[in-house]
Amino acid sequence: MKEIVLNTVVKVCSCEELEPVDRMLVNAAREAAKGSYAPYSRFNVGAALLLANGEVVVGSNQENAAYPSGICAERTAIFAAGATNPDAPIVALAIAARNADGEVARPISPCGACRQVMLEAETRHSTAMRIILFGTEGCYIVEGGAKELLPISFGADFLR
Ligand code: THU
Repeated sequence: MKEIVLNTVVKVCSCEELEPVDRMLVNAAREAAKGSYAPYSRFNVGAALLLANGEVVVGSNQENAAYPSGICAERTAIFAAGATNPDAPIVALAIAARNADGEVARPISPCGACRQVMLEAETRHSTAMRIILFGTEGCYIVEGGAKELLPISFGADFLR
């Protein structure tokens, strides 16, 4: 029997150790979480994208009384970037979150639906996005991008 071996590299560091551009992006995500509308979960998430043209696009989770109609911070940001900068690859994405006790100690990781959307943004622009996950006790960095968080994935190539 053959095996497929999956390899995801996650770097762990204190947030002070981040490169200045990543620290800037993390701070933009923390700030973006303040725009979250989360009266149901009371979990506020912010996402910040760095585009290849230097622009930073942010998003936050937006909930709805009809629960599935809400959307995560990551997709809010990616769809906003797609709408305003359709030709610009996304080079990095930072995610930050807070609950009733304050900012999370352990970094949160994007949900499956967001990973799928992140992957398509990478495929669309042939550019992997560096992913930076913020927690007060440390940050995770996935240099390889969404394809490392969503291996053996579904994509447009299967439709043809
Ligand atoms: N949420 C995000 O916005 N991003 C994530 O990575 C995880 C979860 C949101 C969805 C929902 O509004 C709330 O957090 C609780 O799941």
